[in-house]
Formats: sequence, structure tokens, C-alpha cells
Amino acid sequence: MILVTGGAGFIGSNFVLDWLAQSDEEIINLDILSYAGNRENLATLDKDSRHIFVQGDIGDTVLLTHLLKQHKPRALINFAAESHVDRSIHGPEDFIQTNIVGTFHLLEAVKTYWYNLEGEAKQAFRFLHVSTDEVYGSLVKDEPAFTENHRYEPNSPYSASKAASDHLVRAYHHTYGLPVLTTNCSNNYGPYHFPEKLIPLMIVNALAGKPLPVYGDGQQIRDWLYVKDHCSAIRRVLEAGQLGEVYNIGGWNEKANIDIVHTVCNLLDERSARVDGKSYKEQITYVTDRPGHDRRYAIDASKIERELGWKPSETFDTGIKKTVQWYLENQHWVANVQSGAYREWVEKNYIDRVI
Ligand code: NAD
Ligand code: DAU
Repeated sequence: MILVTGGAGFIGSNFVLDWLAQSDEEIINLDILSYAGNRENLATLDKDSRHIFVQGDIGDTVLLTHLLKQHKPRALINFAAESHVDRSIHGPEDFIQTNIVGTFHLLEAVKTYWYNLEGEAKQAFRFLHVSTDEVYGSLVKDEPAFTENHRYEPNSPYSASKAASDHLVRAYHHTYGLPVLTTNCSNNYGPYHFPEKLIPLMIVNALAGKPLPVYGDGQQIRDWLYVKDHCSAIRRVLEAGQLGEVYNIGGWNEKANIDIVHTVCNLLDERSARVDGKSYKEQITYVTDRPGHDRRYAIDASKIERELGWKPSETFDTGIKKTVQWYLENQHWVANVQSGAYREWVEKNYIDRVI
């Protein structure tokens, strides 16, 4: 079996669902169920004995030690993190605790477990750390995309905390020989994406008749990857990645934010038109920029393609259509995640942004 952390969040839950759709290998899913973790994402697995859900913290060494001893996983995939840049600006402490201190405690528990394995089980064990392209900082226009050798230059408390976790993972390989793999992926989108992030926020706000808040001039560029393609890349790295290596994962889909918002509006205009017949673009509102906002991310995904034969299956055109359709068909999910805590966050992040 494998152990995943953060498997009730956006990418983790897609990973768990895809894994069990393709394999009978059991998954232990350790997730603290923060505001971003949602059991409803995994509702189809409620009666599936291949999925063992445990609510808990990656920083809880006692719990981790117990789970590892009891279930003896052949691999651990670490998705658990605080993941939203704007939240890291308003309150960095949770990011330091989970992304740095939590990863440290996780590595310690896994190191002890791995030391005590023997023979084939020890040889085969893998710790796969899921990280982000944001650790590389920001690119200027026309600068080559991030390769795995790009210097680390994180600019937000979120990316700095992820960079620190990547360094710890690297150090546990070099110092203790822990069999690690690290992936650095670009922006994901797709089902179960929490509506604090750009694409789901725009869909949800558009349908609710609310403003579509575009930070600054809207010309910042992100490199978008459909979440299922990220999951297939992780499976491939787990299967065939070289120990201690880093693999960049991306969709070769660089888009300016304003173009993303226009695409979302066009799709909603076609599939769920406003009653007044006007375009959802009427709701676009330019607001104060994110402090320290990175201008451009772009991933050079040639290493994973060359060495492991992985390529994304979706284009942005096919992936965004599936995503918009998923949100139209799952409005109960959206309503359920928009708790009081969600509304408080929206108020905190957007109230002072009006230009
Ligand atoms: P998310 O915020 O949707 O989910 C994070 C999950 O981790 C939640 O279920 C949460 O409950 C859980 N969690 C948080 N703190 C925990 C703790 N201390 N112990 C156990 N569980 C905890 O995040 P996501 O977008 O699914 O991202 C998953 C991982 O992928 C993160 O490490 C993130 O840095 C990385 N990543 C995300 C993207 C993206 O575009 N979303 C891109 C590249 C990399
Ligand atoms: O690059 C990978 C990263 O992508 C992941 O590591 C992070 O976990 C994930 O959250 C994401 O970070 P971003 O900051 O790029 O994603 P976000 O959806 O928050 O914002 C995308 C872009 O849209 C960014 O340039 C900011 C802008 N934006 C965002 C929001 C929420 C807006 O213009 N308006 C908004 O309301």
C-alpha cells in the first residue's frame, strides 16, 4: 500500500480517486482536514475498503510512526501543505508550521521507518515530495522556462516555505540516504479546486453575479496544467524516477490571467448565459495587486518527457471546458465549501482591494 498526506485537498483527492480507479493497491490518506481539506471530495470511496482515511497532522510524529509501523507502506507521497499565496501574505505562520516544521517531522518519522526496513522493502521504498514552480521565483518576458537547475528565488511566504521543505527533502537524501523524489509543478486546475484560487473563484463569482477581481493589470502569466495530468506525472515519477532527482511538471500552457478570465466568461456565456443576455465579462473588476506578485511562471517539462516519457494528455482548451462543466454540474459541492470561514476569507482578502 501507499500513504498519501493531504489527500482530501484539491490535488491529493484527485490523486486518490485516480489511483483507485486504476489500481487495487490500498491507500492510507492522512489529512488534517484544514479549511482546504474536504471529505466530500472522496465521498465515492466511503464504502471502499481500499481507502483508509485518517484525520491527523503531518507534524504528529507519534501518529506517523504508528501508521507507518501498522501499514508498512511501500511509498509516501506528500501533498499536505498550506497552499494559497494570498493567505500566506495575510498569515504566514501556518505555512511555516505545516510546510517547514511539518515536513521536517514527517521526514524524521519516515527516516526511522525506512532505516528499520530490510532487504527488498528497504530498496523499494520511496518518499515523493510534491512541490511547486513558485520556488524558482519570477521570470521576465521571453526568459527561458524554469528547468530543474534554475536557482531558488522564492518571493512569497508560501513559496519560501515550500522552498525550505524542498531543501529539507534534498538534505535527507544527501545526508541520510533517504530515497526521495521531488516534483515541482506549475498551476493546476480542474475538479475540486477550492474557490479561493483564480479559476474556480472566477467561475463561482460569475455564476453568483459577483465581481471578478483581477489583480493589477491582469497580465501576469501562469503555466496551467489539468490536475489529472499532474496526477499521472506523479504516478510516473513514483514508478520510474531516479532517486534524489527533481522533476519539473508543466503543461506548456502559458496564459495571462486576463485571458484565463475571458476564456472562463466565454464558456459560461455559452453554457449558462446570464439572464440579461450580457457577457459575464461585464463583471470583471480590476483590483489592487497582490503584494510581491510574481509576474511570470513557465515550466520546462522536457526532463520528465525525455527521461520518463511523460506528457500531458489535456490541452488547455480541453481541460478548461471539462473544468467549467464540472463546476456547473457540482454546484452543491461549491455551496458546501462556502462555509462561514470561506466568507470571512473572501471579506478579508478583497475588502481593501477596490481601486
Ligand atoms: P490544498 O490546499 O487544496 O490541499 C492541501 C491539503 O493538505 C488539504 O486537504 C489540507 O487539509 C491538508 N493539510 C494541510 N495541512 C496539513 C497538515 N499539517 N497535516 C496533514 N494535512 C494537512 O492544496 P493543493 O492545491 O491540493 O496542493 C497540494 C500540494 O501540491 C501542495 O504541497 C502544493 O504546494 C502543491 N502544488 C500545488 C499546485 C496547485 O496549483 N494547486 C501546483 C504545484 C504544487
Ligand atoms: O504555480 C503553482 C502554484 O499555483 C501553487 O504552488 C499554489 O499552491 C497555487 O495556489 C498556485 O499559485 P498562484 O498564486 O499562481 O494561484 P492563484 O490561483 O492564487 O492565482 C493565479 C493568478 O491569478 C495569480 O497571478 C494571481 C491572480 N489572481 C488570483 C486571485 C485569487 C487574481 O488576479 N485574482 C484573484 O482573485
